[in-house]
Amino acid sequence: MKDASANQTAKKAAGEAAADLVKSGMVVGLGTGSTVAWTIKRLGERIREEGLEFLGIPTSFQAESLAIECGIRLSTLSQHPVLDLAIDGADQVDERLYVIKGGGAAHTREKVVACSARQFVIVADESKYVKHLTHPVPVEALPFALRLVEKKLLELGGRPVLRLGKMKDGPVITDNGNFVLDVDFGSIEEPVELGARMSRIPGLVEHGIFENLDELFLARESGLERIRREE
Ligand code: A5P
Repeated sequence: MKDASANQTAKKAAGEAAADLVKSGMVVGLGTGSTVAWTIKRLGERIREEGLEFLGIPTSFQAESLAIECGIRLSTLSQHPVLDLAIDGADQVDERLYVIKGGGAAHTREKVVACSARQFVIVADESKYVKHLTHPVPVEALPFALRLVEKKLLELGGRPVLRLGKMKDGPVITDNGNFVLDVDFGSIEEPVELGARMSRIPGLVEHGIFENLDELFLARESGLERIRREE
């Protein structure tokens, strides 16, 4: 088990390395979380040091606030529906490059942005890299549909738990005004099939299984490893 500072060092290494993928003229999706925050900060430095010019599309209020603080010019999916690149963090990535996201309750916008990009890159430390996905899957649900979504997830073999706020009584509310369920499915052998089944549940806005990762920037103790999806 790594200590917290070694973990932060690894997150920084992966996050900063991916900032080198950004070239002037690009439109870039800016992910949410503590690892990709290093990417966003490094991009701010590159703007100041090299005059790098690009447009960012943030995936959350958190990403937007940090990008503004770092001097990154922002745009919207309405203005730029096709992105050159999206960079984001993950809760878990398996050896086939399937990903679980949504630990920060931002996975719906993150998935829209990732699927709008020609290239989708994840930055992570090696504690996130596993043979099979086991992390509870974050699921965004319409408050109106909560009980139905819970029932259907139980029928799929999951154990849904409503995510509660910290420093706030009651559930977490996403940037889209919805609830989040963390659904334990144990070891997930067939993430694509499970994702497709969840997508058929009425009132389930989006689940946190991502299947379109192109490249993983993985910070290991031995150094940075770049793992690309095989064609
Ligand atoms: C946000 O909802 C998540 O998908 C994050 O991208 C994910 O939880 C990674 O976060 P950290 O980089 O903070 O571990």
